[in-house]
Amino acid sequence: MKQQDTIIITGSNGNVASWFSRQLLEQGHRLVLNVHKTRDRVADLIIEYPDQVQIFEADASDEALFGTKLAQCLAIDDWHPTALIHTATIRSHDFKNLADTDSQLWRHIMDVNVIGTYNVLKAVIPYFREMHYGKIVLFASNVTRIGLPKGSAYSASKAAIANLARSLAGEEAGNGILVNTISPGPIMIDESHFSESYRKFRQEYYQEKIKEIPLQRCATFRDIFGICNFLISVDNTYITGEEFYITGGKL
Ligand SMILES: NC(=O)c1ccc[n+]([C@@H]2O[C@H](COP(=O)([O-])OP(=O)(O)OC[C@H]3O[C@@H](n4cnc5c(N)ncnc54)[C@H](OP(=O)(O)O)[C@@H]3O)[C@@H](O)[C@H]2O)c1
Repeated sequence: MKQQDTIIITGSNGNVASWFSRQLLEQGHRLVLNVHKTRDRVADLIIEYPDQVQIFEADASDEALFGTKLAQCLAIDDWHPTALIHTATIRSHDFKNLADTDSQLWRHIMDVNVIGTYNVLKAVIPYFREMHYGKIVLFASNVTRIGLPKGSAYSASKAAIANLARSLAGEEAGNGILVNTISPGPIMIDESHFSESYRKFRQEYYQEKIKEIPLQRCATFRDIFGICNFLISVDNTYITGEEFYITGGKL
């Protein structure tokens, strides 16, 4: 196995990342999977691909814990990371206008989504610098350009991620590290893990949003995987600092 083959994935038990993980394992990559509270979607992977998968549990908003647990996985021989796919996120689940949102919830979303992204990057970048090679893909959302009424903390946090990626791309280009953002519109996902109220909010919101999408449907995991797979590959040698909108033609 080449050193270029270890990919770190955060939020790995999420809808998108768990599907991506299986695709990447089938391609022969090794994965270091960060999970948070749940691991039901990725638990089987370690049984099916015992030599290719490590799973570590850490809250991305806990800088020390995340860094320590990641380092434990990467202490094994040639498990040197070459790519990061960062999807870990929480959403604005109060569905309230900014003026009515509890400040604690606003801070919590920023803490996980923005400070968490900072923590993940702080932990991973030294490994990439050491090898003068690294491909980073951060997941934001098309809310970075259209906003999200009743979801201001989520949309602000995603805009922060997309913009920090642009800054980071400039900072790390000389270290052989390429940084890009993927900003999907609505994705067809399993909604069973959401609360009843969030599911209802989401379904109503997307019913309206789909009417605005020229391709008239939500994205599939495969629609998003292709671009991500390319951005983290050795074939991507020149694309950095970009934000890719995967929105079926919706501007
Ligand atoms: N799904 C969509 O329609 C859509 C649209 C646009 C953009 N996106 C973006 O695409 C990415 C993937 O979306 P998704 O639908 O796959 O998300 P998801 O299913 O909600 O998964 C998010 C993951 O983040 C983890 N997480 C939450 N808090 C964490 C923390 N403090 N530390 C570490 N991990 C934490 C969750 O773990 P636990 O459940 O164990 O807490 C979960 O596995 C996200 O960044 C999302 O913002 C999604």
